[in-house]
Amino acid sequence: MRTHKLKVFLNNLEGLNFMENEALLKITNNLEEKLIEVRHDFHRHPELSNEEINTTKTLRKLLNEAGIRILELPLKTGLVAEVTGLKKGPIIAIRGDIDALPIIEETNLDYKSEVFGKMHACGHDFHTTVILGAAYLLKQQESNLSGTVRFIFQPAEETGKGAEDVLATVALSGVKAIFGLHSAPDLEVGSFGTNVGPLTAAVDRFEIEIKGVGTHASSPEKGIDPIIVAANIITALQTIVSRSVSAFDQVLVSVTHLNSGNTWNVIPTTAYLEGTVRTVNAKSREFVPQRMRQIVKGMADSFGATAELKWYAGPPATNNTAQWATVALEVAKEQGYVIKKLPSTLIGEDFAYYQEKIPGAFVNIGTGVSYSLHHPKFQVDDAAILPGSKYFAQLSKRVLDILSQK
Ligand code: NI
Repeated sequence: MRTHKLKVFLNNLEGLNFMENEALLKITNNLEEKLIEVRHDFHRHPELSNEEINTTKTLRKLLNEAGIRILELPLKTGLVAEVTGLKKGPIIAIRGDIDALPIIEETNLDYKSEVFGKMHACGHDFHTTVILGAAYLLKQQESNLSGTVRFIFQPAEETGKGAEDVLATVALSGVKAIFGLHSAPDLEVGSFGTNVGPLTAAVDRFEIEIKGVGTHASSPEKGIDPIIVAANIITALQTIVSRSVSAFDQVLVSVTHLNSGNTWNVIPTTAYLEGTVRTVNAKSREFVPQRMRQIVKGMADSFGATAELKWYAGPPATNNTAQWATVALEVAKEQGYVIKKLPSTLIGEDFAYYQEKIPGAFVNIGTGVSYSLHHPKFQVDDAAILPGSKYFAQLSKRVLDILSQK
């Protein structure tokens, strides 16, 4: 009796969704072709962080076409969609970022950027398409899903702010595990890498404003030269990595911008320094700015100048949990990926904000050997797209099964 009722219910459901199912079938029958076409379209029309209006519109259209539910959220750009199985179960999320960079593309691709000065040079068009492909595949198999998969099409990764905007909505409420990917231009198509712990670094920015006393260049004794103070501060900052943290800890302190004075015969009043600190653990991330404040203040005091350090915290380091990094690797092996050990990197990734709240794993997928990320000649091999989508669909199912068994 119950089986009969369920069958009737399913038939009705199928009747209701008949049009959508037809459309979805058309997509999944030629999935690779469809995904390549979609990525080329994104690549031709790159949009910068927080300006992803058309990218969002396109995604909305593509998801609607396939009957995939879109959540109503107060996001200016980007969107979140979901597929829910017939069996009630846990909620998990997979995330692709959607923004491009202010770079003039220098490839010869026939789908090269059509917007001068903007380019998908970090492969986010690839990430978006892989997650979309996973959404199609999971929609097709939704009756067998033991829970809900949310698809986070995240805006503004490059500014490090988009993840926080998504987290400020209810998009991730109840989400038990989260996964994300980055294209890897140093790995062949078919290669895969991830690890337990950090995969990217905490990326913080600092500014130092030094105030001295300006004077005629002929009588430095009448002033306080901020350039000398700046030079000493820069040199002393180098001792943080070499003398104040363990040689086994990955810490980077770089002054990347120095500005003072505007002519040859005047000692200026102020000097300005700017730079970045990269760390992979919370302890160092807390320690380095403390030590910097000591150095900045102490050095300025010793010359009779004043100096102020301003600190701008960026995303923390990504942090893959042992459980989910292991599952991510297992599924990759099963899907035929060759597992590669990843070199350490101190780039940033705002996926880390999700991992502060939700356990999960961030993975690297080989997109064919190419110029580095953010390079005007960076390229992604189309052959990496479909396997990526299949991987994320399979990973989602596996994670839901594991969580449902608890
Ligand atoms: Ni990126």
